[in-house]
Amino acid sequence: MVEIEAMVIRRFFTVNERDAAAWLMMSTDPWKTFGRTYENCLDAVTNLQKEAYGAFVQDEFLGLLVIDLTGPLKGYIQAVCVKETARGKGVGKKLIKFAEDRIFSVSPNCFLCYSDFNESVREIYDHLGYEEVGVLKEYMIPGHDEILMRKTLGPVMTYQYQKMTS
Ligand SMILES: CC(C)(COP(=O)(O)OP(=O)(O)OC[C@H]1O[C@@H](n2cnc3c(N)ncnc32)[C@H](O)[C@@H]1OP(=O)(O)O)[C@@H](O)C(=O)NCCC(=O)NCCS
Repeated sequence: MVEIEAMVIRRFFTVNERDAAAWLMMSTDPWKTFGRTYENCLDAVTNLQKEAYGAFVQDEFLGLLVIDLTGPLKGYIQAVCVKETARGKGVGKKLIKFAEDRIFSVSPNCFLCYSDFNESVREIYDHLGYEEVGVLKEYMIPGHDEILMRKTLGPVMTYQYQKMTS
């Protein structure tokens, strides 16, 4: 049973934790349909240019988060994924809130994409205050589009940086 109150979000400490995160990503859509390999997913959770976090209850791994704070879309949630058995209990919302706190500490915009074949996540993002801002036609694989979503606290130039609360 997932004890959500006892959940912590932290960096990965061990090889086994990173391995569990890479396996989860690789075996879950959208990354599965993209054809992402174990090595690709391991790279996503170990890449030092990104920030990767895991959600844990004691030592049980429940889900992962990868944030990109570099590049033109500064503040991009590259991956959020919860183990199937732990879904629908608030883990994903906590991971996204953590990502927002981290991103809003340096930028007023959180961006993320979802794939048109993974439409069921759209309602979650709508519910959490994200707005569609564009369609990236056939961005990852032929025949499928990525939908770009944004949650904003205002224009970059007038933004008063927030302190992290998580
Ligand atoms: C997307 C994902 C991370 C969500 O994680 P989760 O732990 O199941 O989500 P939560 O239980 O925290 O629910 C998130 C919020 O969305 C709401 N929600 C969930 N499904 C919803 C729906 N169909 N319509 C409206 N709101 C919905 C929940 O009620 C909750 O909000 P609340 O606490 O204010 O009620 C998870 O489904 C997942 O890992 N999916 C596979 C990987 C994936 O597709 N990742 C996204 C890639 S873009």
